Amino acid sequence: MSTRKIIIDTDPGQDDAVAILLALASPELEVLGITAVAGNVPLALTQKNARIICELAGRVDIPVYAGCAAPLTRALVTAEHVHGKTGLDGPQLPDPVMSLQDGHAVDFLIRTLRAQETGTVTLCPLGPLTNIAMAFQKAPDIVERVQEIVLMGGAYFAVGNITPTAEFNIYVDPQAADIVFKSGVPITVVPLDVTHKALVTKPRNDAFRALGTPVGQAVAMMTDFFERFDREKYGSLGAPLHDPCVTAYLIRPGLFTGRHINVEIETTSELTLGMTVADWWGVTDRTPNATFLGDVDADGFFTLLTERLARL
Ligand code: RIB
Ligand code: CA
Repeated sequence: MSTRKIIIDTDPGQDDAVAILLALASPELEVLGITAVAGNVPLALTQKNARIICELAGRVDIPVYAGCAAPLTRALVTAEHVHGKTGLDGPQLPDPVMSLQDGHAVDFLIRTLRAQETGTVTLCPLGPLTNIAMAFQKAPDIVERVQEIVLMGGAYFAVGNITPTAEFNIYVDPQAADIVFKSGVPITVVPLDVTHKALVTKPRNDAFRALGTPVGQAVAMMTDFFERFDREKYGSLGAPLHDPCVTAYLIRPGLFTGRHINVEIETTSELTLGMTVADWWGVTDRTPNATFLGDVDADGFFTLLTERLARL
């Protein structure tokens, strides 16, 4: 089997943590590195949490880099109200022993894309797009070297989760998102339209716990914690597992459906800042620039996720 080289750009975050675990449990993927960005919680915590998760997976070989501590131009907005003050509330996980890599995540992205064969590295942003945009601005030559960007962010039918019109990752750094969506890199978007159909219902959470492993226990406790916010807000039957849908798409894209459409980012209006203006119905003549996913086989997703977590 040929493995797919990926770099995970992330703001852990319980759902980011599950996405990283799924990637590290899947032989189809070679994780070249993890780059942390400020988002759900400040950078000091996201880079620490990324290392905590690598250690939980027994993968202290994975290089973890700290990236941007704030969006390109706007003030940072965080989401402790969803993820807790640590960003990984739920399980009691030990502080990391593995070191953070020296150097900035943006320079790791640039160095790695220049070193790897063109078109062989997929970027998997799971948080605000600040690191990716900064790398593209600092080294425009790397843009054409990226195989694909598969990102969690945005929304169309599901509209917004941090404002009435914007999803959190895009809202935190809309300027960065605009740079990425205009870059010309092939993009696949995993929006709230999909992730709100991937809910951790009690039977699914029970299946994590039933694995009887430290990973299964931690994932069950993380998703239990993460769920309370969505249950209050949406009355949903469980937490939407946003970021692991990115990893699952890389492993088994047939679980998802979507359309190749034009997606543009609102970067000026305060009312709709960070909105992904997705031309789902093709009512404009704007050039399609992204595959925007709309549906997921949720049972198939959770079967894959649970089976892979059992391997850690
Ligand atoms: O809106 C959901 C996204 O924002 C997820 O990636 C979650 O981890 C937060 O970063
Ligand atoms: Ca995230």
